[in-house]
Amino acid sequence: MSIRARIEGVGHAVPPRILTNDELSTMVDTNDEWIFSRTGIRQRHISGPDETPFTLALEASQKALAHSGVAAEDLDMVIVGTVTGDMQFPSTSCLLQDAIGAKHAGAFDVGAACAGFIYSIANAAALIETGMAKKVLVVGVDVLTKIVDWTDRSTCVLFGDGAGAVILKGVEGSERGVIKTVLLSDGSGAKHIHNEVGGSRYPFGSPQAAPRSQKVYMNGNEVYRFAVQAMGDACMKVLAEAKMTPDEVDLFVPHQANIRIIESARERLNLPSEKVFVNVDRFGNTSAGSIPIALSEATEMGVLKPGMTVLTVGFGAGLVWGANLIRW
Ligand code: UT7
Repeated sequence: MSIRARIEGVGHAVPPRILTNDELSTMVDTNDEWIFSRTGIRQRHISGPDETPFTLALEASQKALAHSGVAAEDLDMVIVGTVTGDMQFPSTSCLLQDAIGAKHAGAFDVGAACAGFIYSIANAAALIETGMAKKVLVVGVDVLTKIVDWTDRSTCVLFGDGAGAVILKGVEGSERGVIKTVLLSDGSGAKHIHNEVGGSRYPFGSPQAAPRSQKVYMNGNEVYRFAVQAMGDACMKVLAEAKMTPDEVDLFVPHQANIRIIESARERLNLPSEKVFVNVDRFGNTSAGSIPIALSEATEMGVLKPGMTVLTVGFGAGLVWGANLIRW
């Protein structure tokens, strides 16, 4: 009998500090009307000096563990999707593994930008389905606000900080759990969205780094075009592989980057608005945090219930994209 990776608990954490569009318009040449009409964002949560992916991941993980009833010492693996980890190394997942007391777990980070949670869930499900792990903690977290250029109005209005966590457990013959995942990439699009400085090609403070920006660079129009195509394609592919159709989806939880991108995916799937979970207005784009924060909020609100079929889809720098189809 085959094993499925069932979702046992969820949790999320965001910094308390809220930055509204009105406050942003005192910092750069923008306004609430432009930001809301182009993106659907009204506000975002911003981390302070002592708030990092580790602190946010810890809070979200503790909530997910409590929600699931799984003990940290019973975890076999800790996976953190992030591109803004606390340090170059060790991984944020190792800091987290120690802090929660996951004494018997392995730990690794997944660098897939805004698709970090999609990729991490795929890894967790594969480990569980092959019998390599029974209980896995997956976190998606980013604090992009610490590496955006606060003088660049075309990027700084988009991002917020936050973490979401889920606990997965292998259950034989389960109807519930991760049904299918698809992961895709196109590295030729690296030029459209990147943060070049700080790796070993352009180390901080080196002559090679000097002419380059240390902040997030994005060609918004190119990323927008890619995102609209990629979101719909990944959804159709994961549904086709599961031999399912869009009308069998109970809740659509897309990456929360831009309401216009979400809306185009909804139209391609021909889903009614009630089946689409949206919180981009309150959080902005939290990168790898976005989908698990949405799943956690949807659970808290009673919108997402056991037995429902959930379609999640994400895209991000790489370029990477993918989707997870889950029976909750
Ligand atoms: O997870 C992956 C992360 N990235 C994304 O998801 C981003 C995908 N891209 C987008 O969401 C959209 O491209 C943006 C929201 C970034 C931009 O929206 P757009 O409708 O593509 O606007 P645009 O870049 O074509 O800019 C239109 C105008 C420009 O002025 P001109 O040249 O027409 O005079 C910009 O300078 O809007 C101007 N503009 C702004 N105005 C007020 C750009 N940013 C702002 C701003 N406030 N914050």
